Amino acid sequence: MRARREDVSDSLVPALDLTGHRQGLASATKQLAQQIDWACREIGFLNIAGHGVSEALIREMYDVSLAFFDLPLEEKLQSSGDPARNTRGYHPIGGQTLSYSLDRESPPDLFEALSVADISSPVSQRGIRNVWPTRPAELRQVWTSYWYEMERLAQDISHLLALALDLDETFFDKWTRDHNSTLRANHYPSQPQHPAAGQLRAGAHSDYGDFSLLYRDAQPGGLQVQTRSGEWQDVAVIPNTFVVNLGDLLARWTNDRWISTMHRVVNPPRDRASDSRRLSIVFFHHPALDAVIECIPSCQDATNPAKYAPITSGEFVRSKLLKTIDQGRATAAS
Ligand code: OGA
Ligand code: NI
Repeated sequence: MRARREDVSDSLVPALDLTGHRQGLASATKQLAQQIDWACREIGFLNIAGHGVSEALIREMYDVSLAFFDLPLEEKLQSSGDPARNTRGYHPIGGQTLSYSLDRESPPDLFEALSVADISSPVSQRGIRNVWPTRPAELRQVWTSYWYEMERLAQDISHLLALALDLDETFFDKWTRDHNSTLRANHYPSQPQHPAAGQLRAGAHSDYGDFSLLYRDAQPGGLQVQTRSGEWQDVAVIPNTFVVNLGDLLARWTNDRWISTMHRVVNPPRDRASDSRRLSIVFFHHPALDAVIECIPSCQDATNPAKYAPITSGEFVRSKLLKTIDQGRATAAS
């Protein structure tokens, strides 16, 4: 049976709680799976409580990441990754423009970022290495602990997503055991100066992988999602919850039963802009590079045949990612 809106939430992004499910209550898991299917069809965003990630670890992750962004630019630039791949190292403000992934022109996004990948896989999937900052000294250890917590939570979410699609809960495991995820901290500095016309903290985009796990603070100038009717609406911050949002790959995998929703990060109102710095931490969960993304059996039938040709996860994501980086953009266009 499908869940209905009144069974889930009256807010745009439904708030779900994993506590009963994590305690092994079969009825809680079943109900969650129905709520998740509903939310993934309607909005592609969920807010989850009861996730089991310790608040102390999240706090440490925040503190150490902010301490990194507070270092002088020259020092941060020493941790720069390959500019053609934004999944490693430091990217300064102006280094990327998320709306480029949609072939739209706009001024650079107003955030800087630090990213790492491949922490748990024994062999780097792309043969490239992380560029860990040397300061703060404890950053690497804190980020590594956080990575493993995100891996655990992502595994739980991918089991629930499988159940929501009427599949065995282990359906995605073979493609996600060697997942090719990225952990990124986005720092949106305060805005003492007025941004340029059309310039946002992060331009409109959808994420590319199967899903993202986002932690954010409640600073002014935050996350918005685009509703079916095209309006932009704020996603309320509920303390100690993660936002789970679906990416393009999962929309394709489910034959568009589920949606990958456009979102953006807006500028703070001018009267609060001078003290509005914001940090978000995102775990972009991606299947293994060689996972073949081919319409899931429960998402097609005679009246609703598969719409998309099979493609590997690596091929699909690479084509998206390249467009968001200036240099990559030129390469992708040539
Ligand atoms: C992203 C993103 C939202 C946020 O990094 O892809 O959508 O709140 N971030 O920072
Ligand atoms: Ni995003």
